[in-house]
Amino acid sequence: MAAPLPVSVSITGTGLFTPSESISNAELAASLTASVEKYNADHADEIAAGTVEARALPDEEFIEKASGISSRFVVEKSGVLDPDRMRPHLPTRSEDELSVTAEMALPAIREALVQAGRTGADVDAVILGASNLQRAYPAVAIEIQDALGAGGWAFDMNVACSSATFSIQSAVDALRNGTASCVVVVNPEITSGHNNFELRDHHFIFGDACTALVLERTDDAVNDGSGDHGRWDVLGTKLATQFSNNIRNDFGFLNESEDDPRDPHELVFRQNGQSVFKEVCPLVVQHISGHLEEVEVAAPDVRRFWLHQANLKMNQLIAKGVLGRVPDTDEAPVILDEYANTSSAGSVIAFHKHRADLDAGDLGVICSFGAGYSVGSIVVRRA
Ligand code: COA
Repeated sequence: MAAPLPVSVSITGTGLFTPSESISNAELAASLTASVEKYNADHADEIAAGTVEARALPDEEFIEKASGISSRFVVEKSGVLDPDRMRPHLPTRSEDELSVTAEMALPAIREALVQAGRTGADVDAVILGASNLQRAYPAVAIEIQDALGAGGWAFDMNVACSSATFSIQSAVDALRNGTASCVVVVNPEITSGHNNFELRDHHFIFGDACTALVLERTDDAVNDGSGDHGRWDVLGTKLATQFSNNIRNDFGFLNESEDDPRDPHELVFRQNGQSVFKEVCPLVVQHISGHLEEVEVAAPDVRRFWLHQANLKMNQLIAKGVLGRVPDTDEAPVILDEYANTSSAGSVIAFHKHRADLDAGDLGVICSFGAGYSVGSIVVRRA
């Protein structure tokens, strides 16, 4: 007997929260230059004795050339640019106040709900996926569920830059299994809280943003697809992981118990960028190609790739590996120049901003990749 066809699930809405403050490469390089000069002067004797390594000065032009990034949004700018601080200023909030993560999530979710023709009361599951979670518990997703007036269940999860695609697959599975009927996936990324603004190899990489999606069983959807943003039927989801230490952040609840105190630079983002580039590109090409084969879609029939936004050259290489030629920005849109790497939010920002022009029947792939390593792809078709 043939296996029953899986229940059809659709993305019925998306939303985006963009912080109001942004930092240009020039501003970032100027603040790091001041910080490096001070650090090297303060440690001049140790540097001369060879016991401390001098820090290298940043270069504004290198940033754009190496990554394609020209600016990034942040939740708070003055603290990041203060050479004596180099992290955002966030007032400590009381238990009665909404957390900063929930606060950025709600406008993105409300926009997604409007597109879906739903309200918070219709939601019966909230999955929050992000590279860094604000606290151990209660889950911020449960705080968001409460603020929305939603029912059902909610949880936080972390698969670094792939947190969006992994949370989308969790939503699709819940909808297919019947354990939820209207799922909000939300990806709040306050990357400025875990980026290393003190080292030139890392200081330019990240930006802050929050994305949200609403997913429902296609048969239940109020959104019939006729609006500008369409309804996007999920043809398949595919996830993969492969262990690597090349992107790592050792911040965690055992830090205080560890016998040897760690270097503070181990407790924020760090990476071997060259190795990541070399190892992840082929992994992602193989992943997307395999996924397209599974859902019986030929690569040239894919109208648009909404790829993770970490590095422009990386995205061109990946799309070239899948298509056999370098794609134009219509085929693989770029938001990296303005937003930098927003971790898990990146591919969803591209999807949110660059899909209204597609026609019914057009096919697309949302794909993320990052620490773990982790890769996730979602093949969608406009209804
Ligand atoms: N200004 C000036 N020089 C810089 C610099 C900066 N901001 N940052 C790095 N450099 C220097 C390096 O120190 C290095 O100097 P060296 O040759 O004397 O050692 C040189 O520039 C080249 O650095 P490298 O790291 O090899 O550059 P790159 O071309 O690989 O680009 C990345 C760096 C990070 C942009 C690139 O490797 C990348 O995007 N990798 C993938 C990242 C990724 O996707 N990560 C996932 C995160 S979720």
